[in-house]
Amino acid sequence: MDTCRKQAWGVLRQHVQSEVLLKHCLAVEIAMRAYAAKFGEDIEYWGAIGLLHDVDFEKYPHDHPNHAGEILRAAGYDGQFVTDVESHARDWEPERTLLQKTLLAVDELTGFIIACALVRPDKNLDNLEVKSVMKKMKDKAFARAVNRETIITSAAAMDVELKEHVEFVTKALAQAVKKPEYQELPLVG
Ligand SMILES: [Fe+2]
Repeated sequence: MDTCRKQAWGVLRQHVQSEVLLKHCLAVEIAMRAYAAKFGEDIEYWGAIGLLHDVDFEKYPHDHPNHAGEILRAAGYDGQFVTDVESHARDWEPERTLLQKTLLAVDELTGFIIACALVRPDKNLDNLEVKSVMKKMKDKAFARAVNRETIITSAAAMDVELKEHVEFVTKALAQAVKKPEYQELPLVG
């Protein structure tokens, strides 16, 4: 099984056209890679899971992630990879592994952080303060589609303080968006 970034990005591009969804997948990839590095886990594997976690969403928005398996198996990914992707279903019952908990914990949060950066006059992640993200989390009118409950409970399941989690993911996004691989589809700007 090839979990390299080039392969994962190629598979994603075959199944996702929407720039919004591609950007979401890139943001989740960044957060997954950062947490893999922090935890001493396989960065390429965690990154590929992040990139491909929503691979079936565009074609099957109402039956997601139930079609990820057929797409991923056809692309050469193994059963564990498929299970890891499927585990971010909100009603997933088995106990999640660290990778699976992390995927759930960054799925909604990355979009929320980017939404917070986008309303700044400078649209800059570097200058986005944790306290401002925390404040907007309580503002129900802001980024209404983002489920705060999932953010809060999934961070707790990871055993991280919400503030620390927000800070870690914000920094990871701010650093990664400057890298060449994230210039094609800028996450903010
Ligand atoms: Fe997602």
